[in-house]
Amino acid sequence: MHIVLDELKEVLPFESMVHPSIGNLRTLHALSLESPDRFWGEIANELYWSEKSGPVLRPTDVPPFGKWFEGWKTNISYNCLDRHLNTWRRNKVAYYWETESGESRTITYQQLSDMVNRIASGLKELGVRKGDRVTIYLPMVPELPASMLAVARLGAIHSVIFAGFTSQSLVDRLVDSQSRVLITADVAYRRGKKIGLKQIVDEALERTPFVRHVVVLNREGSSGTDAGKRNIPFSELMHMGKGRVSPEFVEGTHPSYILYTSGTTGKPKGATHSTGGYMLWTYYTQKVVFTVRDEEVYWCTADIGWVTGHSYIVYGPLLNGVTSILYEGAPDYPQPDRWWEMVERYGVNVFYTSPTSIRMFMKFGEQWPKMHDLSSIRILGTVGEPINPEAWKWYHAHIGAEKAVIVDTWWQTETGGIMISPQPGNHLVPLKPGSATLPIPGVDAEVVDEDGQPAKQGQKGFLVIKRPWPGQFMTLWGDDDRFRTVYFTKYPGMYYAGDYAVKDADGYFWILGRADEVLKVAGHRIGTVEIEDSLISHPAVAESAVIGRNDQVKMQVPVAFVVLRPGNTPSENLRSELLNHVKKTIGPIAVPDQLYFVERLPKTRSGKIMRRVIGAVVEERPIGDVTTLEDTTSVDEARRAYNELKNAMKS
Ligand code: WT7
Repeated sequence: MHIVLDELKEVLPFESMVHPSIGNLRTLHALSLESPDRFWGEIANELYWSEKSGPVLRPTDVPPFGKWFEGWKTNISYNCLDRHLNTWRRNKVAYYWETESGESRTITYQQLSDMVNRIASGLKELGVRKGDRVTIYLPMVPELPASMLAVARLGAIHSVIFAGFTSQSLVDRLVDSQSRVLITADVAYRRGKKIGLKQIVDEALERTPFVRHVVVLNREGSSGTDAGKRNIPFSELMHMGKGRVSPEFVEGTHPSYILYTSGTTGKPKGATHSTGGYMLWTYYTQKVVFTVRDEEVYWCTADIGWVTGHSYIVYGPLLNGVTSILYEGAPDYPQPDRWWEMVERYGVNVFYTSPTSIRMFMKFGEQWPKMHDLSSIRILGTVGEPINPEAWKWYHAHIGAEKAVIVDTWWQTETGGIMISPQPGNHLVPLKPGSATLPIPGVDAEVVDEDGQPAKQGQKGFLVIKRPWPGQFMTLWGDDDRFRTVYFTKYPGMYYAGDYAVKDADGYFWILGRADEVLKVAGHRIGTVEIEDSLISHPAVAESAVIGRNDQVKMQVPVAFVVLRPGNTPSENLRSELLNHVKKTIGPIAVPDQLYFVERLPKTRSGKIMRRVIGAVVEERPIGDVTTLEDTTSVDEARRAYNELKNAMKS
């Protein structure tokens, strides 16, 4: 499958490592599953609720099989901000913000609260009310978390779109959520360059007439070309209302946000999170996995546009009163010690990043981290894709000085927060490089075979979660059917995660990668069909097939096969035009690493594209490796298709 599976052979067969903390963790884990009301009820008491009536968990007959804090009321922005304002943390730093060029701001909890109140009060003037959707399309600026919290303060629902996405993605998401307010900026900065966000927004606005107000953070002093009436400068919004807004206390099951993620069709899925359960989950997991102390500095390098940023830059850290770094820029700009220089300067204690970044730094070489004193680091986290043991060891040795605890955290946009991970804050179990270790309390995870039976030890199967957990998403926005089909049909009664996994003799989980047609490119999730749809939307393209090829750094990169419409001829110009088309419609992360022009795509007699055949050709694997072909496909047919494609690629 992926890099990891091969390297796993070094650590297989799994030896048993019995350790006392495993016993303790199992006791805690069992308690959390048997008495969710008691277990989570107690933790919920550490947060503020304006009302607590009814059970913590009410089991239901339909997916996701449970409602958390249904009769309880709270406000997540109140818990992130106001709750700290009557304590000494009022003047504690919430964010150290810094850009590539060295611009910086220090924002305390009090200052963040003031900003959030001003934005909320402006949004209220614009008519934003409980349940309304507000789309936020901003780079990594303090106004991003502040806008999210402002929306949440009003009981409205935010939909943050990663600023690396471009116009078509923006249109799709705006249409799906029917947001009437959009918050954006004129530009984003990356690698010393300016990216014209407002220009992309203006293109999207031509196709989204229902958007009434566009709030623009003017960093360069210009607000773009869109019909001026819809534009409101951010600075004006901040002065529109009374400047203070009392929080809207909402039911635990009231949606807090929508975050779009890729699936196996061209239409992105709007994972919809709750307020109560999500709040509890990010609060709890941040606390037990990262254990950041009051005097410490925490840095999660993700972009807030992805779920990692939502849960572990915004909600988890703020709920826990943590001091975080917010960095707008590339990891290796102006040179490959940028992050390590910052770790030293801020004295970062807990650091959370992706395996792709680690592998990139491995390539640059250990001389870069060596230039800096990284001894403040106590915990190192990874997320987003499997970490190969080699990268794990490098991270531990060269960033963690062989002493830091590595927390390999498995979770998904859908799960809201960390599900399988070591827990330094509870009972730290022995670590095994490449394994996310054990499920945290509340998570009833299992690896099952095709029939839904627990897979044998050491045998590859599918990862499932067998009962509801507080952080679970409640549905896909506007599409309960797809929610049920995608996640709860393969194994009735269980949540199907879409990942391959193996469990070892100690019950440790080894996550092997996606089991569906979703790619993980540098930790980002992108559907092959989304890229195919983008290519097909170009007038020269008749058909296309996109697959993932293994990559030493990014884990996977997309590779595209394109059949042209009659009257078009393959050329270098057309190739770059098509690649640029993908960049313009979806965004740079979706751009294929390679694009081949072919006469036809390998298909079964029934017309289904044989992706495994394409995969075998691209990876230069013999056709013999193509074991589980679709039932309608004979091996002969596959072999012929394989050779044909191989020859086509040569020419
Ligand atoms: C997919 C979810 C969770 C935040 C970022 C990604 C993969 C995630 C791990 C890990 C192996 C991992 C899975 C999962 N994944 N963490 N520690 N080990 N694989 O969120 O974009 O929703 O992607 O990322 O394949 O299904 P996402």
